Amino acid sequence: MSIPAQSIIENLATAVLVLDARLQFQQMNPAAETLFEISARQLYGQPLARFLPQARRLLRLLRQALATGHPFTERGLVVILPTRSITVDCTVSVLTSTDHAHASTLLVELNHVDRWLRLTRDESMLDRHAATRAVIRGLAHEIKNPLGGLRGAAQLLERALPDPGLAEYTRIIIQEADRLRALVDSMIGPTRPIRKIPTNIHQVFEHVRRLILAEVPEGIVLKRDYDPSVPEIQGDPDQLIQAVLNIVRNAVQVLNQRGHIHLRSRIERQMTLGQKRHRLVLRAEIEDDGPGIPDEIAEYIFYPMVTGRADGVGLGLSIAQAIANQHGGLIECSSRPGRTVFTIYLPLE
Ligand SMILES: Nc1ncnc2c1ncn2[C@@H]1O[C@H](COP(=O)(O)OP(=O)(O)O)[C@@H](O)[C@H]1O
Ligand SMILES: [Mg+2]
Repeated sequence: MSIPAQSIIENLATAVLVLDARLQFQQMNPAAETLFEISARQLYGQPLARFLPQARRLLRLLRQALATGHPFTERGLVVILPTRSITVDCTVSVLTSTDHAHASTLLVELNHVDRWLRLTRDESMLDRHAATRAVIRGLAHEIKNPLGGLRGAAQLLERALPDPGLAEYTRIIIQEADRLRALVDSMIGPTRPIRKIPTNIHQVFEHVRRLILAEVPEGIVLKRDYDPSVPEIQGDPDQLIQAVLNIVRNAVQVLNQRGHIHLRSRIERQMTLGQKRHRLVLRAEIEDDGPGIPDEIAEYIFYPMVTGRADGVGLGLSIAQAIANQHGGLIECSSRPGRTVFTIYLPLE
């Protein structure tokens, strides 16, 4: 029995596109529809350049293939789609029809490699964060004990001082000890086991939105894009509010009076978080159109004490990541000037 070629293409996991000599969509398989988040019908006959105006490198390579007639493969090509950017391995073949010698057709195969890159990163990232947190916990313990002694001694000293004017100094000791203690506590992040109750992510977003609207200038616009079919998650609403708030506050700070913040919710199917495979995962995104994360710290932003701001403490994101991890999820970030997205993944079952 032979299987028709069309049905093989339809069932490939690789996204396949057929483009004509003017780079207009002729065909795409379901894997391509999934990758582009659009139906083939909507794209049929449309120029690729209109659908992907920002995918300049891909467009240039395709034009080159048409001009030269040479096939090519490009690994790790970043393609900017209307709603996100993806990394693909791209193979292009040039098909020349026999009846019109000049009418070439391009067969484009796109293998999405983000997923794979992200998974390997997930695991090492979670491991590293767990290790960092263990170090911090140990250090925090070592700091807090003597700090308690220091504070107690300063209090005793204050009572025994002959000159009340000197109490100014003991008060500084006590205040600084308290400040240090609060800092250490926030570095450890949430220590209590989280309480898990059915939690609506949109209520979490709305709560944060209300808090933020009360404190931001008018030039900052908060937009929502909620998928109403997202089910409730089992989670700790207060902690989740804290995590989202930390991320949104950062966005507000970088936007500097003017810009947009999007709060978005979606469902992902069949996704691995850490080591575990989940059937359904919530994807909650916070996107801003600010300057992007400074290159020097991009790799480290989730570590405690990493900050790009003169008055920053560098704890917001590490706490947010710890909260997501406690829920069995994780936070990722992708950023370039004009578009920074923090994505919180939380398992839905
Ligand atoms: N949306 C964003 N756009 C650009 N940079 C960001 C964004 N969010 C976080 N950052 C960078 O990551 C750093 C760490 O953030 P965070 O952990 O909250 O600590 P802090 O806000 O105290 O600096 C920030 O100082 C900033 O440089
Ligand atoms: Mg912050």
